[in-house]
Amino acid sequence: MSENTLSSQDRKHLDDLYEYIQEQYRFFVGYPCRGDLDYSELFRFMHYPINNVGDPFVPSTYRVHTRQIECEVVRWFARLTHAPEDNYWGYVTNGGTEGNMYGLFLARELLPEGMVYYSQDTHYSVSKNLRVLKMQNIMIKSQANGEIDYEDLYETIRIHRDVPPIIFATVGTTMTEAIDDIGRIRRMLEDLAIPNSYIHCDAALCGMTLPFIDGAPVYDFRAGIDSISISGHKFIGSPVPCGMVLAKKRNVERIARSIEYVGTLDTTLTGSRNGITPLFLWYAIRKTGTEGFKRLVRECFELADYAIAKFREIGLDAWRNKYAMTVVFPKPPESVLAKWGIAVQGDIAHIIVLPNIKAGQIDELVADIHAAMTD
Ligand SMILES: Cc1ncc(COP(=O)(O)O)c(C=O)c1O
Repeated sequence: MSENTLSSQDRKHLDDLYEYIQEQYRFFVGYPCRGDLDYSELFRFMHYPINNVGDPFVPSTYRVHTRQIECEVVRWFARLTHAPEDNYWGYVTNGGTEGNMYGLFLARELLPEGMVYYSQDTHYSVSKNLRVLKMQNIMIKSQANGEIDYEDLYETIRIHRDVPPIIFATVGTTMTEAIDDIGRIRRMLEDLAIPNSYIHCDAALCGMTLPFIDGAPVYDFRAGIDSISISGHKFIGSPVPCGMVLAKKRNVERIARSIEYVGTLDTTLTGSRNGITPLFLWYAIRKTGTEGFKRLVRECFELADYAIAKFREIGLDAWRNKYAMTVVFPKPPESVLAKWGIAVQGDIAHIIVLPNIKAGQIDELVADIHAAMTD
């Protein structure tokens, strides 16, 4: 195949874009997307139309795929989340939103009359997922730290106890990285003698941090969840968004359909699926290892505490939840927001101290805020 080279104008267009991204990345501290991993060893795979269409565990007639490695990644996450050895299934998604939609989809298929409960601090995509899936739902109040309000949840389920509850719990809320206590929610359902329920855990960020912290809250299959979604591009880091969804295999079998055209089972949400992102995840997991992840999480917490001390030095009330690398502080002046990629909500803002964040960036941010405050 002959291909023309790019015109000098087009090349400049690309160079300018590259420069723009490099510049923005310097100030990119407010979103949980890590960016310092080197995946260049995998570039040779980009020459192929890799596609992991359909179920990763079932062979397909589409043979240019990385499903073997995807299954290895699924198994790694299954061990990490203590999924039942003989009853788990999963795949690499396009990100947290797809994994959450998958969990809700399964819940709806199992409990079509179910009512979804989720907190005010749940990620914004969940209410859209609920609209797409046409599931009845009730939003529960949040506590000041971002955790679900257990009294409000208990009372609301009690009032609707004739309807099977579907709990959408968040383990690491978007704004404050608060952790909903799944064990407590499970006990609540037992206390109310609810016969049928479903718990999905949205562990977009913390699914990759809590397993590496001694004494961290139990949030996974040991706590009684039915499915879980974890983002891949957040703590692990990937140039292409991705994630992992895990669910109980016997529940997934209830929705599986066999498709002759691709010779496999249609258990996933999308048909064609990214075959490169499982490679990224596999590569990062193999290179980092358990000890590596433990060290990274510890270093992030140390730097988060450093950031809090720096904010406090200039009189700002900064804080973080106990197992969080998200540092919350009062919304800074507009001039600071124009320069720094910081997420805000109402009168608070946050930075997320991922492994790629440097102390120098925190110093510069705090200095900018101080200058803007004293202007
Ligand atoms: C708690 C939580 N859930 C879900 C998502 C959505 O994840 P994604 O952007 O990977 O679709 C996010 C994103 O920040 C999140 O913070």
